[in-house]
Amino acid sequence: MDGAVNGADRTPSQAASNAEQRAWSLAYAAAKAIGSFDTDRPAGFRLGHLEPTEFPERRECPRPEFPVSAQRPERLQAVGPGDPRADLLWHPARGWECASRTEDAARTLLDLYLPISSATQARPVTVAHLGQSLDGFIATPSGDSSYVTGPENILHLHRLRALCDAVVVGAGTVSADNPQLTTRLVSGSNPVRVILDPACRLPPGLTVFSDRQAETLRVCAAGNGFARRALAAGESLLELAAAPVGLDLAELMRALRARGYHRVLIEGGGVTVSSFLQANLIDRLHIAIAPVLIGEGRPAVRLPPRLRLQDCLRLRHRVYRSGGDILFDCDLRPPAGAGADNDPDQASLQRIL
Ligand SMILES: NC(=O)c1ccc[n+]([C@@H]2O[C@H](COP(=O)([O-])OP(=O)(O)OC[C@H]3O[C@@H](n4cnc5c(N)ncnc54)[C@H](OP(=O)(O)O)[C@@H]3O)[C@@H](O)[C@H]2O)c1
Repeated sequence: MDGAVNGADRTPSQAASNAEQRAWSLAYAAAKAIGSFDTDRPAGFRLGHLEPTEFPERRECPRPEFPVSAQRPERLQAVGPGDPRADLLWHPARGWECASRTEDAARTLLDLYLPISSATQARPVTVAHLGQSLDGFIATPSGDSSYVTGPENILHLHRLRALCDAVVVGAGTVSADNPQLTTRLVSGSNPVRVILDPACRLPPGLTVFSDRQAETLRVCAAGNGFARRALAAGESLLELAAAPVGLDLAELMRALRARGYHRVLIEGGGVTVSSFLQANLIDRLHIAIAPVLIGEGRPAVRLPPRLRLQDCLRLRHRVYRSGGDILFDCDLRPPAGAGADNDPDQASLQRIL
């Protein structure tokens, strides 16, 4: 008999990647579904396909040389909270959860992304990500960071961009990398690009200001007359008051929330992530650690020194393997109660690779 019965000719890795692809579709659809249902009531949802005619805003892949992993757009369909067909359950107090029928391979991915997909206007989420060496650097002294972490982590970063409404980077990253900050490795829309450029020093010809792949918001210090200068075609300007050190990041977050950006990704570099951490504006911190020693270079997180170790931040976390890297997903919000991430019954040493 030709062909497969129930996918019997698939290899385990193909089956896992199909489960992962489906889980990604669920996480993405869950994020985009917020606002389309009553988040004050428990609800159940299953993954359903959209007909092409129902998806007029579908983004074309701007770079055909990069594979777009799921061409067919998907969305969530409401079913009752007790319906056995549900893939995801919505809990008003906690956000999205996997339904029991979700496969194991998909659960890991959903554990990582559903806390971000669960952001609402009342409960926004800011997630920061850095890919660093074993010795705590994100780039060499010259600024070369392509790439500290492996392709699986770069895919993860593109997924974070797709889940988020806005991605924030510092002028140092834009100057060193001339990045696109798009979602070209995954299906999902590009976030608005927010560039911290207090002195408006970045030239308008850089990709984020000129490629028109997504809106770009340049954030500069108020009172310098920058608003009077000519803007690049794909650029808008936000002037912010200065804080005692740098820009007033709390004011920036209020401005982003007012624009409806409930999921915000702080993508680097180290100076930028550290300043958001210091301002206590990060809910989740993703640190991917690669088995590479850079020796000296651009540091990852740097915070003001504390004399006593017990005063240092020790974070609730989960650990994932991501290709050859280890990904820490740290939760900086106050604990919601028992049963949170760190299991007190865990063995003192576990092999995870
Ligand atoms: N491995 C990774 O995950 C990763 C991620 C991103 C970037 N990178 C690499 O990291 C390097 C850049 O990182 P970096 O830490 O040197 O610089 P950065 O964080 O990208 O940019 C720092 C600059 O952004 C502006 N800025 C950031 N926070 C600010 C605040 N609170 N208030 C005012 N201005 C603020 C300032 O611009 P002004 O200098 O104009 O004052 C500051 O000097 C590059 O080599 C890049 O390739 C690596």
